[in-house]
Amino acid sequence: MFIGLDLGTSGLKAVLMDDGGNVLASAAASYPNPHPHPGWSEQHPQDWIDACTKVMDRLKAADPSAIGSVRAIGLSGQMHGATLIDEAGKVLRPAVLWNDTRAYDEAKVLDHDPQMREITGNIVFPGFTAPKLLWLEKNEPELFARIHKVLLPKDYLRFWLTGEYATEMSDASGTAWLDVGGRRWSETALTLSHMHLDQMPALYEGTEVTGQLRPSLGAQWGITGAVDVVGGGGDNAVAACATGCLSEGQGFVSLGTSGVLLAAKNTCAPAPQTAVHTFCHAVPDRWYQMGVILAATDSLNWLSRTLDQDAATLANSLPDTIDGPADLLFLPYLSGERTPHNNAHVRGAFIGLDISHGPKDMTQAVMEGVSFALADCLDALRSTGTSLRSLLALGGGTRSAFWCETIATALNLPLDLPASGEYGAASGAARLAMASQTGQSVEAIMSPPPIGRTIDPRPELADRYAAQWARYRRLYQAVTV
Ligand code: XUL
Repeated sequence: MFIGLDLGTSGLKAVLMDDGGNVLASAAASYPNPHPHPGWSEQHPQDWIDACTKVMDRLKAADPSAIGSVRAIGLSGQMHGATLIDEAGKVLRPAVLWNDTRAYDEAKVLDHDPQMREITGNIVFPGFTAPKLLWLEKNEPELFARIHKVLLPKDYLRFWLTGEYATEMSDASGTAWLDVGGRRWSETALTLSHMHLDQMPALYEGTEVTGQLRPSLGAQWGITGAVDVVGGGGDNAVAACATGCLSEGQGFVSLGTSGVLLAAKNTCAPAPQTAVHTFCHAVPDRWYQMGVILAATDSLNWLSRTLDQDAATLANSLPDTIDGPADLLFLPYLSGERTPHNNAHVRGAFIGLDISHGPKDMTQAVMEGVSFALADCLDALRSTGTSLRSLLALGGGTRSAFWCETIATALNLPLDLPASGEYGAASGAARLAMASQTGQSVEAIMSPPPIGRTIDPRPELADRYAAQWARYRRLYQAVTV
């Protein structure tokens, strides 16, 4: 038996998987994501631990005998967040998350040094870890002086589970301290951000064992033998493991809090000028490229909070099929944007509001705006030579058939929706745990999911969505002047 834990932005999810890769039970617990100032996004690491305790108790209750024979736990998580630990292993302040753009100036300074893109293969985005540390040095110097280790969110969970300071290649790729091609920490990149190698956790591959579960936790959860805690990976790399996206030509679009268009790569071929991300995969000797937008379902959730209407109710107010874009346009830059703009200052907008418009029109505009932002990501990926023939579609947003058909048409690519089952990052993390124990090849373990439904683009509407996408792009120019 294996457990996969995915420490997401809105909550933590756990799955229990048997040796045949079948998910026997799953559990989830949510936690808040405070935004104490515009552009800030934080979380309390203790909330992650409390959520982990809850989901493990629920897994135990769901299948007490299966949990008893767990051999390994794999971890996945939201990337880039800075969890700061002092010498005694105590958390120094709330973690600063991936969608926090306060370190804009510091990111610009780091990105300006040509060595950074050369070493890391990426733009230093404000949401990456390194600029956050420069911001803390300037704004919270006493705290900065006490930093013993910087841990990514899931690696703080690992520290709590095992007592070890460890990370793995895929999540480390988003720090701006990793030599992504060489798969090692870069002392040059660390020095440029006023950090030291000894403040970094030990570096593993996602399929390697990084430590053992503390016996007291094993006893609490009814696990009898020794349990290895395995590297795992950043959420997108691990979702790629869950869906068999390991090789060139395979990819997915993910509609989670952030929106991601990911393509697996056999080699490391960075193209930072396009604002795509080039990161190590969670399996050895593989990489991936992705475009990231900061607010996908986050945009719909924002609308839902603002209108005080449930997001599912808003989504269900739209039909299952599309019949052309709305006049109302939405720019989903609620937290700034990464691909293709690398602009932390731009903010969202509704353009073309009419006195007749209501929640339904706004929902359609939000879904279309996110779809056009993903079309921008596809454009950026293609400009690097990456080609994708079809895409798996993952994440909570894919429950809306309207949204999926809009994306398929805006991208002019069929979307394959997995048949019902667990294909999220938690199951990918369990698969990585399995890979550490069984000696089976990663290709054998990380198989693609059965496809439940394919949503094709609507060619007769393609021109109208293309025209609206062009308008969307002009409006980005207009709101940034
Ligand atoms: C990837 C990214 C997000 C987070 C949150 O670069 O920032 O996808 O991992 O899920």
